[in-house]
Amino acid sequence: MGLSTSALLVVLQAHLVSTQYPAPVAKPTWCSVPNYRFYRWTPTKARGFAPSADLHCGLQEGKPDGCSCVGYKECRSGYCVPDITGATYCTYPIIQVAEIEFWRKSQKVRTQKVPDNNHDAFRVMSSADVPQTWGVWELELYRFTNCSGRLVGGTAISSSSRSHGFGHSIDHAAPYGLHETPRTYWQDDPSLPKQSFELHGPEMYAVDGDQTTNWYPTCQTPCLADTQWVGLNFSTPMPGGVKCVRILQDKDRAYASFGLRVQGHRHDTGAWETLASFSAATWEYGGVWENLSIPQGVSFYASRGHARSLDSNLSSSVVELVGTPLEFDFGVETEIDAWRFAPAKEPSENNSAIHDGYTCENDGLCARDPVQWKLDGSLDRTNWVTLTAQDTADYDVPIFRQAFTPFFSVDHLVSLTINDIWPDGRGKCAARR
Ligand SMILES: *[C@@H]1O[C@H](CO)[C@@H](O)[C@H](O)[C@H]1NC(C)=O
Ligand SMILES: *[C@@H]1O[C@H](CO)[C@@H](O)[C@H](O)[C@H]1NC(C)=O
Ligand SMILES: *[C@@H]1O[C@H](CO)[C@@H](O)[C@H](O)[C@H]1NC(C)=O
Ligand SMILES: *[C@@H]1O[C@H](CO)[C@@H](O)[C@H](O)[C@H]1NC(C)=O
Ligand SMILES: *[C@@H]1O[C@H](CO)[C@@H](O)[C@H](O)[C@H]1NC(C)=O
Repeated sequence: MGLSTSALLVVLQAHLVSTQYPAPVAKPTWCSVPNYRFYRWTPTKARGFAPSADLHCGLQEGKPDGCSCVGYKECRSGYCVPDITGATYCTYPIIQVAEIEFWRKSQKVRTQKVPDNNHDAFRVMSSADVPQTWGVWELELYRFTNCSGRLVGGTAISSSSRSHGFGHSIDHAAPYGLHETPRTYWQDDPSLPKQSFELHGPEMYAVDGDQTTNWYPTCQTPCLADTQWVGLNFSTPMPGGVKCVRILQDKDRAYASFGLRVQGHRHDTGAWETLASFSAATWEYGGVWENLSIPQGVSFYASRGHARSLDSNLSSSVVELVGTPLEFDFGVETEIDAWRFAPAKEPSENNSAIHDGYTCENDGLCARDPVQWKLDGSLDRTNWVTLTAQDTADYDVPIFRQAFTPFFSVDHLVSLTINDIWPDGRGKCAARR
């Protein structure tokens, strides 16, 4: 499937450059698994105080939301806010939530950094099918996220290695994108003894600092995702671990991987754990150095206070103005297929209340629950795609405090052209996997 889609893409791209074919047209496509680096959640309405039999605009004070007002004392919410026309209404302008979670394949998406003081070996795994044999020309490990502080030493390790190259020599001076050039020498007579191309194969060629030699695993074609890896073994835990990886893959994308997973080997348990997964959605790959910076947890652009929404602590909470986005930078493209949030409990708010710890019917805490919102995703933080919008009706937030709502799905409509289809057959929508 991956192979046929890529083959199709190559054919179509060849056709697209010809003037005989019309320009590609974007078509709407339903997508259930967005894979963006940036997500932002914008609450657009708080529950506030809705009108009822006892709560109406005829009251002198304590009017519900939506009643026109002159001063804040008239409002049950305590806020008399102008709308865009300048007219003032009782409004509830604040939301509060305890926690937000993003999920993928029934597992919570990691939002904290992986502990980094117990790894004694590191490797890069191909996480996408490579149409031909995967070729890694150089691999470098670094201590800092900006790819400085090179880790030296260690022994090269790999899933498998060819003892030498195969079928043809490789022109290392070929320009970007080219694996084969007029200087490439092919063995085209299979009856002759197999010619060996000595500078290609063993894993040490990936870490020898020589850009004319490379590692090839023994995989079949396509070289399947999550089967082949190459790395360095230091045998003792490396304090601080690896925070950046530079990799030079083959110049021909048929021999380079679109998806890479950086993993660390735990000295104590012997298990490999994924530090980060990268998809070359927004950078070149194959024949160029890729700097892969390992995210150190989700970062928060608008306010560090928003970190309380992802701190796995239901007792801490985020208080924010309605309409202010909570923006999450996962550092790398991250797939989600569901999300949910937990409303907050603010212990200081009504200490006189007879409170069972769960309900908020009597003490007014529910007013800060978000009841309308939108969730957007972006790869570059400039172009945003709306994934879900709860914008026509109020969501009935459960009365239970500090407990998660049911899961919300992220089915959304995106507009894709043939150019948006990634080498492994995905669109900007992982549902096309
Ligand atoms: C990279 O990061 C390290 C550690 O934070 C810092 O000391 C160094 O100056 C940075 N280098 C560059 C070129 O920014
Ligand atoms: C990648 O890392 C190398 C080594 O630190 C540095 O010289 C280069 O400028 C980096 N490239 C980018 C695009 O950050
Ligand atoms: C690293 O090398 C040591 C010493 O040879 C060996 O015991 C260990 O199993 C190796 N670790 C990995 C992850 O290959
Ligand atoms: C959770 O948040 C509360 C309120 O901010 C804080 O008092 C408590 O120490 C936090 N718990 C943990 C385990 O961090
Ligand atoms: C506090 O809670 C009590 C009991 O639930 C309620 O009668 C009272 O109106 C609440 N006070 C405020 C300021 O919301």
